[in-house]
Amino acid sequence: MANILEVKDVHVSFLEERRTIFDKRNRIEVLKGINMTIGEGEIVGLVGESGCGKSTLAKVILGLIKPDSGEVIHGSVHPQMIFQDPYSSLNPSKTVRFILEEPLKNMTDAGPEERLKKATERLKQAGLDEKYLTHKPSELSGGQRQRVCIAESLMMDPKLLIADEPVSALDVTIQAQILKLLDDLQENLGLSILFISHDLRVVYQLCDRVMVMRGGLIVEEGEIDEVYRNPKHEYTKQLLIASGII
Ligand SMILES: Nc1ncnc2c1ncn2[C@@H]1O[C@H](COP(=O)(O)OP(=O)(O)OP(=O)(O)O)[C@@H](O)[C@H]1O
Ligand SMILES: [Mg+2]
Repeated sequence: MANILEVKDVHVSFLEERRTIFDKRNRIEVLKGINMTIGEGEIVGLVGESGCGKSTLAKVILGLIKPDSGEVIHGSVHPQMIFQDPYSSLNPSKTVRFILEEPLKNMTDAGPEERLKKATERLKQAGLDEKYLTHKPSELSGGQRQRVCIAESLMMDPKLLIADEPVSALDVTIQAQILKLLDDLQENLGLSILFISHDLRVVYQLCDRVMVMRGGLIVEEGEIDEVYRNPKHEYTKQLLIASGII
């Protein structure tokens, strides 16, 4: 399997917040040497406690944060992000059609007809009828909004999606539908997905492989069944026990 992404020895630090103007600010290392790969068509889970650096790693992969050192090598051109909160990540004053067409307007020379055709196709692939093209996000449910976010993320034909807690703001039945959609998209479009989640059960349903992160390091990584049945690291065991899986 070819790799769609390689992350090599990535370090990221942030300046500590200053409590008074006299405080000296130290640098805090948040990613302490991350190595990982994602293969073509693979869904990889990234789990770990709040603050361990998952979203920071996602931002490094998307080029939104420049690492202090290390390398991110992409095997595809347009990695895309799906966020946790479908309420705040869509412009409320625009129609779904406008939102979907915008990346094509900004980054391609596709004409109006082609843009509409693609917006319609992606919306359907995300499981929404084309009648929603004329709706605004405020007229949609949370699950429908997340579908619009997913359709939007597909407009530039990405090969890699990074989904940062994409279902944790949704209720359980809607969660299951969105997970099924991601799984179908992986299969139909051959996408690779980095799936970031606190929920080890959800990760088990969706992912082929899992990486366990703690304190800025990946402490364990492997095929999902292998890691869940036979965790090697004490911290992985703790997470599995806390989730009631073992
Ligand atoms: N721009 C920033 N400036 C300073 N510190 C930051 C910045 N972004 C993140 N941090 C710190 O880096 C650490 C890792 O944050 P990050 O958002 O990557 O965690 P996370 O694993 O995604 O957590 P969660 O599961 O809660 O989303 C945290 O301690 C956070 O406070
Ligand atoms: Mg996060």
